Amino acid sequence: MPTKRVLTGITTTGTPHLGNYVGAIAPCIEASKEDRTESFLFLADYHALIKCQDPALVRQSSLEIAATWLALGLDTSKAVFYRQSDIPEIPELCWILSCQAAKGLMNRAHAYKAAVADNEAKSADPDFGVTMGLFNYPVLMAADILMFSATHVPVGKDQIQHIEMARDIASRFNHHYGELLVLPEAVVDQETEVLQGLDGRKMSKSYGNTIPLFDTEKKLKKSINKIKTNLLEPGEPKDPDTSPVFQIWSAFASASERDSMRKEFEQGIAWGEAKKRLFELIDDRIGPARARYEALLADPAIIEQELLAGAQKARAHATPLMQKIRKAVGIQSMA
Ligand code: TRP
Repeated sequence: MPTKRVLTGITTTGTPHLGNYVGAIAPCIEASKEDRTESFLFLADYHALIKCQDPALVRQSSLEIAATWLALGLDTSKAVFYRQSDIPEIPELCWILSCQAAKGLMNRAHAYKAAVADNEAKSADPDFGVTMGLFNYPVLMAADILMFSATHVPVGKDQIQHIEMARDIASRFNHHYGELLVLPEAVVDQETEVLQGLDGRKMSKSYGNTIPLFDTEKKLKKSINKIKTNLLEPGEPKDPDTSPVFQIWSAFASASERDSMRKEFEQGIAWGEAKKRLFELIDDRIGPARARYEALLADPAIIEQELLAGAQKARAHATPLMQKIRKAVGIQSMA
């Protein structure tokens, strides 16, 4: 069986929350343990600049996201864990790919299209506030992926289009210059449920309904108490399938814990009690990592060391491929 090369990045614009953990970080850490799987996991800090012009926030988020991966036990001797901006070959490839990517294809990218639609709705200039960074976002993402010959890219549904674009750009390049780039496949895990937030919608920074992963116990308790419920009294049966409390419980619980909580709901567990148990469950699962997370944030030099070592491993792949790409397009030494 050929080796699977899994690659994914997280944009460094926020504090990791339970949704990031359940939907992306935990499954990627699990997958990185498999035999015949190579994992490339990175901080997408160049991507952060597209939507965030607050340097302190980008820096802090980079620290927190890196600390999260490490605290949760990512084995960096097996996985390649790095920061996008430590790999100069990525922006270099991004330019070369820009010269292959059709503008018409980029016009259809949903983040750009949404910005234009928003302007049109306000009768503003369609390009108002649209930077070239936003427009080129899918090309940079293609460079992230193609630079490491990734075969599998685990992403949320909203990112499938970008993987299709990366394939399209890679095919054009290969057609023109020879088969140097590997066409990646999007992996959308149907089993990993999208975690619900405080209000029952998808847990997402943009909805302001998140529960931070590594808050203090007190704050975690407080967040959980804010999860939306209804006015049913203790003793009245409650519907587990429409409750974010139960949905979040299920994401952390074993199968038997899930079944027994389902029964409790049907038997009318009080909301206060259900939330108390949810707190205890989450705290049990992530409590040990919280201490490691705090220790890492208190000593960023350890994180930096990990990232620099990871960049070295990543560049061992990127540098030779970039050499071939440069040569293929006609950029090489004259001597
Ligand atoms: N754009 C992705 C997101 O916002 C993050 C990302 C950047 C990424 N480069 C990537 C994901 C390459 C997968 C592969 O979620």
